[in-house]
Amino acid sequence: MSWPDWERRLTDPSPLSPLMTPIIAVDGPAASGKGTLARKLAAQFDFAYLDTGALYRAVALSVIETGGQVDKEPDAVAAARRFDMAQLSDAAFAARLRTAETGRAASVVAAMPDVRAAIIVAQRHFAETPPAGKAGAVLDGRDIGTNICPDAAAKLFITARTTIRAERRWQELQLDDASLSFETVLRDIEERDARDAGRAAAPMRQAQDADLLDTSDLSIEEAFAAALALVDKKINL
Ligand code: C5P
Repeated sequence: MSWPDWERRLTDPSPLSPLMTPIIAVDGPAASGKGTLARKLAAQFDFAYLDTGALYRAVALSVIETGGQVDKEPDAVAAARRFDMAQLSDAAFAARLRTAETGRAASVVAAMPDVRAAIIVAQRHFAETPPAGKAGAVLDGRDIGTNICPDAAAKLFITARTTIRAERRWQELQLDDASLSFETVLRDIEERDARDAGRAAAPMRQAQDADLLDTSDLSIEEAFAAALALVDKKINL
């Protein structure tokens, strides 16, 4: 956000003006550490946090659980139009979102422009009027800095080497499924990266004005310190 915008922000009497809401956009590929960093940034600034990947996962899961097929566009679009943020508060539903199968299905429905169009308003509304009276919002995903919140005050693109991301995701998924092999998770991540970066609709990419952070050789604490330093340069609260 430029200085004139900040000045206007300080004097703007409307608490709901998008101009007034500091937004931190955190994008990057699967298992790059973006979710952990986004959550920690939200806690640090006392901002609301939205994991936008959960919306695509919810759409995909809703298709599967209503007997539809994720690669059939009408099934996916109908589920996206039914989507309601309240679904994410259902703990049992939220737990089912985290499986490898749901992640894969999410990236299939996420390539469909009409699916993306159906859930864009919910994301922008969250960013511009964060819930629980929070003063700002942190959103993580693939297209936050490029598409959902192009005017975000701070933008990070978090990445890490593919094998490191696969190792992290494998450790996480193994807690639920000990039979899952590292090779399967690696292949899954590579396919998902290719689909997310290669699609025509809002592909995953670093926004021109986003800061790049490679977490491959960093601990969570080191990565968070680096992320905070980058955000602090853009947002001073
Ligand atoms: O981040 P997560 O792995 O939960 O995202 C699941 C899938 O949702 C991604 O692979 C991607 O296809 C899609 N997604 C997206 N745009 C976002 C967030 C997630 O296309 N902003």
